[in-house]
Amino acid sequence: MSLPVEVVEPDGLGAVATVGVFAQGGPGDDTPALLRGAADVAGLPDALDPALCARDGFRAKVGQVLRLPGDISHRVLVLGLGPSGPPREDAWRRAAAAFVRAAGEGGDAALVVPEGAPGSALAEGAALAAYRFDAYRTKPSPGSPDRVLLVASPSAAAELRPAVARGLAAAEAVSFARDLVNTPASDLNPTDFATRVAEYLDGRPGVGVEVWDESRIEAERLGGLRTVARGSVQPPRVVRATYTPTGDRGSVPHVVLVGKGITFDSGGLSLKTADGMMTMKTDMTGAAIVMAVVSACGALEVPVKVTALAMVTENMPGPDAVKPGDVFRARNGSTIEVLNTDAEGRLVLADGLSLAAELEPDAIIDVATLTGAQVVALGRSIGALFGSDQRLKDRLQEVGDAAGEPLWQMPLPEEYADHIDSEIADMKNMGRAGEAGSIAAAMLLSRFVGESPWAHLDIAGPSRVAEPSGYLSKGGTAFGARTLLEFLRTGATADPA
Ligand code: BES
Ligand code: MN
Ligand code: ZN
Repeated sequence: MSLPVEVVEPDGLGAVATVGVFAQGGPGDDTPALLRGAADVAGLPDALDPALCARDGFRAKVGQVLRLPGDISHRVLVLGLGPSGPPREDAWRRAAAAFVRAAGEGGDAALVVPEGAPGSALAEGAALAAYRFDAYRTKPSPGSPDRVLLVASPSAAAELRPAVARGLAAAEAVSFARDLVNTPASDLNPTDFATRVAEYLDGRPGVGVEVWDESRIEAERLGGLRTVARGSVQPPRVVRATYTPTGDRGSVPHVVLVGKGITFDSGGLSLKTADGMMTMKTDMTGAAIVMAVVSACGALEVPVKVTALAMVTENMPGPDAVKPGDVFRARNGSTIEVLNTDAEGRLVLADGLSLAAELEPDAIIDVATLTGAQVVALGRSIGALFGSDQRLKDRLQEVGDAAGEPLWQMPLPEEYADHIDSEIADMKNMGRAGEAGSIAAAMLLSRFVGESPWAHLDIAGPSRVAEPSGYLSKGGTAFGARTLLEFLRTGATADPA
């Protein structure tokens, strides 16, 4: 169940349990000031009491919360937005998340929204912070407020409402992707994935969905997907979802999204360690994200045609599993030597990217929890961005920053092309031990994308968090989903109008 977020005017406050107001602190200033407008609504002085701030160490840092003492009927929470000046978009999101977490369970929580604040980020931050995955708990984990009320002047409220609706639609899509990621692999095999996605997308205006079973996958010559699936008793699936904007007369841009959907990555015969396997239900994050993105395109009035391909299989070491040294033929006719069966993501993506390239779209973007090397290079907060088109990469990076999903651009140096040279086939599925592992993976992908501008997001690190932080809840994050949605919503071009 998602958190209701509603826009109200100051006299519509009623009996709220908690009121939140935003504050900023100038550099070297230890008395943060409340944002204009907040003081009136919450009945507070403009500047915060220095003694209070000093006592609680409140410097209005982003995500910091100060509880004001006093015997008033509701609690007042002061929410840090960082130093004075226009806050970054993600500061609003994180402050709204901190508000929801600090407000705790039950009652209405009213947030005083200053003029010009981005309603979509506030709604997104609030709704995402309230996300819980309780499907397997006998007792639900501690909950959130019953409602969040965004308090704004009548003129601001009119502008805020559609923005809030967009934020909630994005948050709902992210929550769907998180649910898929957090579901244990034995309850989400490739067939389950396809069924749940098809159900979720069913009936959405402009959206179509098709599930490819084994015989279709064979007929389509998806050698990479079939090769990985050989070790599992579970059959693979491709889910192909499309979104067509209303009134499309064939002139709008077409973007193809491809997601890695390994519902469990044991490593196959190149078996992972027990520790390495523990979180590998997460390995279908890319597939969950591209499907979730399609689900929200209508609500966000995305002006772009979207095709999303989820390449879904388990990677298991069953009796017929692919063996190190085996060679298979991929969809586009190239041959790949499988030297490490744990480098399976690039094999299923090779076929997905070939399918994408055949559509000759305006852009291809793949999303994958692809390499442990990505985690080593960039850690758990930043995704790796590769690709063939500088303008596409720059735009994704820009949108990712605003979404709070930072991406770092990585190179595809021609000098490393021979890292994936095979002794007997066109290429092998791994690079050199301990050297540029995420580049080697991306390099292999680059051979399947054809002429379309292409970007590749390796989100192995940020795909999950061990502890709740900001608007992320423990477990799957669906990192990248909001970046893609914003990229599409703004026309999928380098220079949005
Ligand atoms: N799914 C993993 C990558 C991964 C690792 C994601 C850690 C999230 C956290 C991927 O399939 C994999 O196992 N990659 C190997 C490739 C190697 C064998 C060339 C890796 O990175 O170790
Ligand atoms: Mn693997
Ligand atoms: Zn994997």
